[in-house]
Amino acid sequence: MASNQMVRMNQGQGETSYARNSSIQNAQQNRMKPLIEAAIVDFCSSINTGSLFPRKMLIADLGCSSGPNALALVSIALEAIHNHCLQFQQTPPEVCLLLNDLPENDFNTVVKNLVTLRQSNKPLVMIGVAPGSFYERLFTSGSLHLVCSSSSLQWLSKAPEHLTRNQIPAYDIDEHTRRERLPIVLEAYAQQFRKDFTLFLKLRAKELVSGGRMVLSLIGRPSYIIDSEFFHLWEIVAQILSVMASEVRSFFFFLAQHFIIC
Ligand SMILES: C[S@@+](CC[C@H](N)C(=O)[O-])C[C@H]1O[C@@H](n2cnc3c(N)ncnc32)[C@H](O)[C@@H]1O
Repeated sequence: MASNQMVRMNQGQGETSYARNSSIQNAQQNRMKPLIEAAIVDFCSSINTGSLFPRKMLIADLGCSSGPNALALVSIALEAIHNHCLQFQQTPPEVCLLLNDLPENDFNTVVKNLVTLRQSNKPLVMIGVAPGSFYERLFTSGSLHLVCSSSSLQWLSKAPEHLTRNQIPAYDIDEHTRRERLPIVLEAYAQQFRKDFTLFLKLRAKELVSGGRMVLSLIGRPSYIIDSEFFHLWEIVAQILSVMASEVRSFFFFLAQHFIIC
Protein backbone atom coordinates (compact mmCIF):
# COMPACT_ATOMS: atom_id res chain seq x y z
CA MET A 1 0.00 0.00 0.00
CA ALA A 2 1.46 3.34 -0.87
CA SER A 3 0.82 6.93 -0.13
CA ASN A 4 3.15 9.87 -0.53
CA GLN A 5 3.76 10.13 3.20
CA MET A 6 3.80 6.50 4.21
CA VAL A 7 6.15 3.57 4.45
CA ARG A 8 9.40 3.21 2.57
CA MET A 9 11.99 0.48 2.17
CA ASN A 10 14.60 0.39 4.97
CA GLN A 11 17.27 2.89 4.06
CA GLY A 12 21.09 2.69 4.12
CA GLN A 13 23.35 -0.33 3.80
CA GLY A 14 22.91 -1.87 7.28
CA GLU A 15 21.89 -5.40 8.19
CA THR A 16 18.16 -4.70 7.96
CA SER A 17 18.38 -2.37 4.93
CA TYR A 18 16.51 -3.05 1.68
CA ALA A 19 19.93 -2.96 -0.01
CA ARG A 20 20.92 -6.14 1.86
CA ASN A 21 17.52 -7.83 1.94
CA SER A 22 16.22 -7.75 -1.60
CA SER A 23 17.72 -10.81 -3.27
CA ILE A 24 14.27 -12.22 -4.14
CA GLN A 25 13.35 -8.98 -5.93
CA ASN A 26 16.76 -9.00 -7.62
CA ALA A 27 16.09 -12.51 -8.95
CA GLN A 28 12.89 -11.10 -10.46
CA GLN A 29 14.88 -8.27 -12.08
CA ASN A 30 17.25 -10.83 -13.60
CA ARG A 31 14.26 -12.61 -15.14
CA MET A 32 13.37 -9.29 -16.82
CA LYS A 33 16.79 -9.01 -18.52
CA PRO A 34 15.86 -10.74 -21.81
CA LEU A 35 12.63 -8.70 -21.98
CA ILE A 36 14.47 -5.40 -21.56
CA GLU A 37 17.08 -6.43 -24.12
CA ALA A 38 14.33 -7.41 -26.57
CA ALA A 39 12.51 -4.08 -25.96
CA ILE A 40 15.70 -2.12 -26.75
CA VAL A 41 16.47 -4.16 -29.87
CA ASP A 42 12.85 -3.87 -30.98
CA PHE A 43 12.73 -0.11 -30.44
CA CYS A 44 16.09 0.56 -32.06
CA SER A 45 15.28 -1.66 -35.06
CA SER A 46 11.89 -0.02 -35.65
CA ILE A 47 13.58 3.39 -35.56
CA ASN A 48 16.32 2.19 -37.91
CA THR A 49 13.91 1.05 -40.58
CA GLY A 50 11.78 4.18 -40.25
CA SER A 51 13.94 7.20 -39.65
CA LEU A 52 17.27 8.09 -38.06
CA PHE A 53 18.69 6.28 -35.04
CA PRO A 54 17.76 8.29 -31.92
CA ARG A 55 20.50 10.63 -30.73
CA LYS A 56 19.03 10.83 -27.23
CA MET A 57 17.19 8.24 -25.18
CA LEU A 58 15.37 8.70 -21.91
CA ILE A 59 14.91 5.65 -19.70
CA ALA A 60 13.05 5.55 -16.38
CA ASP A 61 12.78 2.98 -13.60
CA LEU A 62 9.61 3.52 -11.59
CA GLY A 63 9.74 2.39 -7.94
CA CYS A 64 13.52 1.95 -7.96
CA SER A 65 13.97 1.85 -4.15
CA SER A 66 17.61 1.91 -2.94
CA GLY A 67 20.62 -0.41 -2.93
CA PRO A 68 21.94 -2.41 -5.89
CA ASN A 69 18.43 -3.15 -7.23
CA ALA A 70 17.85 0.57 -7.86
CA LEU A 71 20.37 0.48 -10.69
CA ALA A 72 19.80 -3.05 -11.98
CA LEU A 73 17.14 -2.39 -14.65
CA VAL A 74 18.64 0.81 -16.05
CA SER A 75 22.07 -0.90 -16.18
CA ILE A 76 20.59 -3.76 -18.22
CA ALA A 77 19.02 -1.24 -20.62
CA LEU A 78 22.24 0.70 -20.94
CA GLU A 79 24.24 -2.43 -21.70
CA ALA A 80 21.63 -3.49 -24.29
CA ILE A 81 21.91 -0.10 -26.07
CA HIS A 82 25.69 -0.36 -26.03
CA ASN A 83 25.64 -3.89 -27.51
CA HIS A 84 23.07 -2.95 -30.16
CA CYS A 85 25.14 0.03 -31.29
CA LEU A 86 28.33 -2.05 -31.40
CA GLN A 87 26.63 -4.75 -33.48
CA PHE A 88 25.19 -2.30 -36.03
CA GLN A 89 28.09 0.19 -35.85
CA GLN A 90 25.82 3.00 -34.79
CA THR A 91 26.93 6.02 -32.80
CA PRO A 92 25.51 5.41 -29.32
CA PRO A 93 22.82 7.86 -28.28
CA GLU A 94 23.19 10.10 -25.24
CA VAL A 95 21.22 8.36 -22.55
CA CYS A 96 19.35 9.99 -19.70
CA LEU A 97 18.45 7.64 -16.84
CA LEU A 98 15.77 8.72 -14.40
CA LEU A 99 15.12 6.88 -11.16
CA ASN A 100 11.73 7.34 -9.56
CA ASP A 101 10.34 6.41 -6.17
CA LEU A 102 8.24 8.02 -3.46
CA PRO A 103 9.88 11.12 -1.89
CA GLU A 104 10.67 9.25 1.36
CA ASN A 105 12.90 6.79 -0.51
CA ASP A 106 16.60 6.71 0.39
CA PHE A 107 17.75 8.68 -2.67
CA ASN A 108 21.05 9.57 -0.89
CA THR A 109 22.30 6.00 -1.20
CA VAL A 110 20.97 5.79 -4.76
CA VAL A 111 22.85 8.92 -5.82
CA LYS A 112 26.16 7.67 -4.35
CA ASN A 113 25.88 4.48 -6.42
CA LEU A 114 24.85 6.41 -9.54
CA VAL A 115 28.26 8.03 -9.81
CA THR A 116 29.94 4.64 -10.35
CA LEU A 117 27.39 3.75 -13.03
CA ARG A 118 28.10 7.01 -14.84
CA GLN A 119 31.84 6.37 -14.81
CA SER A 120 31.65 2.74 -15.90
CA ASN A 121 29.56 3.03 -19.05
CA LYS A 122 30.42 3.92 -22.59
CA PRO A 123 27.42 5.87 -23.95
CA LEU A 124 27.22 9.40 -22.56
CA VAL A 125 24.93 9.02 -19.58
CA MET A 126 23.08 11.70 -17.66
CA ILE A 127 21.42 10.55 -14.48
CA GLY A 128 18.73 12.02 -12.31
CA VAL A 129 16.18 11.14 -9.68
CA ALA A 130 12.47 11.84 -10.07
CA PRO A 131 10.77 11.71 -6.66
CA GLY A 132 6.99 11.38 -6.73
CA SER A 133 4.20 8.88 -7.15
CA PHE A 134 3.91 6.93 -10.38
CA TYR A 135 0.17 7.47 -10.02
CA GLU A 136 0.82 11.08 -11.04
CA ARG A 137 2.53 12.70 -14.02
CA LEU A 138 6.30 12.48 -13.55
CA PHE A 139 7.80 13.31 -16.95
CA THR A 140 7.14 15.65 -19.85
CA SER A 141 4.88 14.53 -22.71
CA GLY A 142 6.40 12.29 -25.35
CA SER A 143 9.79 12.15 -23.65
CA LEU A 144 10.38 8.55 -22.48
CA HIS A 145 11.78 5.82 -24.73
CA LEU A 146 11.73 3.02 -22.18
CA VAL A 147 9.90 2.59 -18.86
CA CYS A 148 10.88 -0.24 -16.51
CA SER A 149 9.46 -1.22 -13.16
CA SER A 150 9.97 -4.27 -10.97
CA SER A 151 8.08 -5.45 -7.89
CA SER A 152 6.47 -2.04 -7.35
CA LEU A 153 3.14 -1.84 -9.15
CA GLN A 154 1.43 -4.08 -6.61
CA TRP A 155 1.63 -1.05 -4.29
CA LEU A 156 -1.73 0.64 -4.58
CA SER A 157 -2.31 4.38 -4.37
CA LYS A 158 -4.50 3.89 -1.27
CA ALA A 159 -6.57 1.31 0.62
CA PRO A 160 -9.93 0.69 -1.10
CA GLU A 161 -12.38 3.37 0.04
CA HIS A 162 -15.24 0.92 0.49
CA LEU A 163 -13.20 -0.90 3.14
CA THR A 164 -11.85 2.15 4.97
CA ARG A 165 -15.30 3.76 5.03
CA ASN A 166 -16.79 0.64 6.59
CA GLN A 167 -13.75 0.00 8.80
CA ILE A 168 -13.13 -3.41 7.27
CA PRO A 169 -9.49 -4.47 7.71
CA ALA A 170 -7.69 -6.34 4.93
CA TYR A 171 -6.95 -9.13 7.42
CA ASP A 172 -9.37 -9.62 10.30
CA ILE A 173 -7.87 -11.42 13.33
CA ASP A 174 -11.14 -13.26 13.87
CA GLU A 175 -11.08 -16.20 11.46
CA HIS A 176 -14.86 -16.48 11.06
CA THR A 177 -15.28 -12.77 10.20
CA ARG A 178 -12.26 -12.94 7.92
CA ARG A 179 -13.67 -15.86 5.91
CA GLU A 180 -17.09 -14.25 5.72
CA ARG A 181 -15.72 -10.95 4.39
CA LEU A 182 -13.09 -12.45 2.12
CA PRO A 183 -15.05 -11.98 -1.16
CA ILE A 184 -15.74 -8.30 -0.31
CA VAL A 185 -12.10 -7.65 0.59
CA LEU A 186 -10.77 -9.42 -2.52
CA GLU A 187 -13.13 -7.55 -4.83
CA ALA A 188 -12.34 -4.19 -3.22
CA TYR A 189 -8.58 -4.69 -3.67
CA ALA A 190 -9.02 -6.02 -7.23
CA GLN A 191 -11.10 -2.95 -8.10
CA GLN A 192 -8.54 -0.57 -6.58
CA PHE A 193 -5.79 -2.32 -8.54
CA ARG A 194 -7.76 -2.01 -11.81
CA LYS A 195 -8.30 1.70 -11.13
CA ASP A 196 -4.65 2.36 -10.23
CA PHE A 197 -3.18 0.31 -13.07
CA THR A 198 -5.45 1.96 -15.65
CA LEU A 199 -4.37 5.37 -14.37
CA PHE A 200 -0.71 4.29 -14.48
CA LEU A 201 -1.07 3.21 -18.14
CA LYS A 202 -2.85 6.42 -19.13
CA LEU A 203 -0.14 8.58 -17.52
CA ARG A 204 2.70 6.64 -19.12
CA ALA A 205 0.96 6.71 -22.50
CA LYS A 206 1.26 10.51 -22.36
CA GLU A 207 4.91 10.40 -21.32
CA LEU A 208 6.21 7.80 -23.79
CA VAL A 209 7.43 8.72 -27.26
CA SER A 210 5.51 7.12 -30.09
CA GLY A 211 6.71 3.50 -30.27
CA GLY A 212 8.28 3.71 -26.78
CA ARG A 213 8.42 0.49 -24.74
CA MET A 214 7.50 -0.58 -21.22
CA VAL A 215 8.77 -3.62 -19.32
CA LEU A 216 6.91 -4.17 -16.06
CA SER A 217 6.90 -6.91 -13.46
CA LEU A 218 4.78 -7.05 -10.36
CA ILE A 219 3.86 -9.54 -7.70
CA GLY A 220 0.50 -11.22 -8.15
CA ARG A 221 -1.28 -14.53 -8.31
CA PRO A 222 -4.09 -15.99 -10.40
CA SER A 223 -7.33 -15.70 -8.42
CA TYR A 224 -7.89 -19.48 -8.45
CA ILE A 225 -4.74 -20.07 -6.40
CA ILE A 226 -5.57 -19.81 -2.71
CA ASP A 227 -3.28 -18.03 -0.23
CA SER A 228 -1.84 -21.20 1.29
CA GLU A 229 -0.55 -22.24 -2.13
CA PHE A 230 1.06 -18.87 -2.75
CA PHE A 231 4.41 -20.29 -1.71
CA HIS A 232 6.57 -17.39 -2.90
CA LEU A 233 5.52 -15.10 -0.06
CA TRP A 234 5.40 -17.92 2.49
CA GLU A 235 9.01 -18.61 1.60
CA ILE A 236 9.94 -15.08 2.74
CA VAL A 237 7.90 -15.46 5.94
CA ALA A 238 9.54 -18.84 6.58
CA GLN A 239 13.01 -17.30 6.19
CA ILE A 240 12.17 -14.51 8.66
CA LEU A 241 10.67 -16.96 11.19
CA SER A 242 13.68 -19.22 10.98
CA VAL A 243 16.07 -16.29 11.63
CA MET A 244 13.90 -15.21 14.60
CA ALA A 245 13.81 -18.78 15.95
CA SER A 246 17.59 -19.12 15.74
CA GLU A 247 18.00 -15.80 17.57
CA VAL A 248 15.65 -16.94 20.33
CA ARG A 249 17.57 -20.24 20.60
CA SER A 250 20.90 -18.34 20.94
CA PHE A 251 19.34 -16.09 23.57
CA PHE A 252 18.18 -19.05 25.69
CA PHE A 253 21.54 -20.75 25.21
CA PHE A 254 23.22 -17.59 26.50
CA LEU A 255 20.82 -17.45 29.49
CA ALA A 256 21.40 -21.11 30.31
CA GLN A 257 25.18 -20.65 30.24
CA HIS A 258 24.96 -17.54 32.35
CA PHE A 259 22.71 -19.30 34.87
CA ILE A 260 25.11 -22.25 35.22
CA ILE A 261 28.13 -19.93 35.72
CA CYS A 262 26.28 -17.92 38.38
C1 LIG B 1 9.56 -3.82 -3.24
S1 LIG B 1 10.25 -2.27 -3.74
C2 LIG B 1 10.94 -2.73 -5.31
C3 LIG B 1 12.17 -1.95 -5.58
C4 LIG B 1 12.97 -2.36 -6.81
N1 LIG B 1 12.29 -1.99 -8.03
C5 LIG B 1 13.30 -3.84 -6.81
O1 LIG B 1 12.88 -4.54 -7.73
O2 LIG B 1 14.00 -4.30 -5.89
C6 LIG B 1 8.83 -1.30 -4.19
C7 LIG B 1 9.19 0.16 -4.34
O3 LIG B 1 8.09 0.83 -4.97
C8 LIG B 1 8.00 2.11 -4.39
N2 LIG B 1 6.66 2.66 -4.63
C9 LIG B 1 5.49 2.21 -4.12
N3 LIG B 1 4.47 2.96 -4.55
C10 LIG B 1 5.01 3.91 -5.35
C11 LIG B 1 4.45 5.00 -6.07
N4 LIG B 1 3.15 5.26 -6.05
N5 LIG B 1 5.29 5.78 -6.80
C12 LIG B 1 6.63 5.53 -6.82
N6 LIG B 1 7.21 4.51 -6.14
C13 LIG B 1 6.41 3.71 -5.41
C14 LIG B 1 8.30 1.86 -2.92
O4 LIG B 1 8.64 3.05 -2.23
C15 LIG B 1 9.43 0.86 -3.01
O5 LIG B 1 10.68 1.47 -2.99
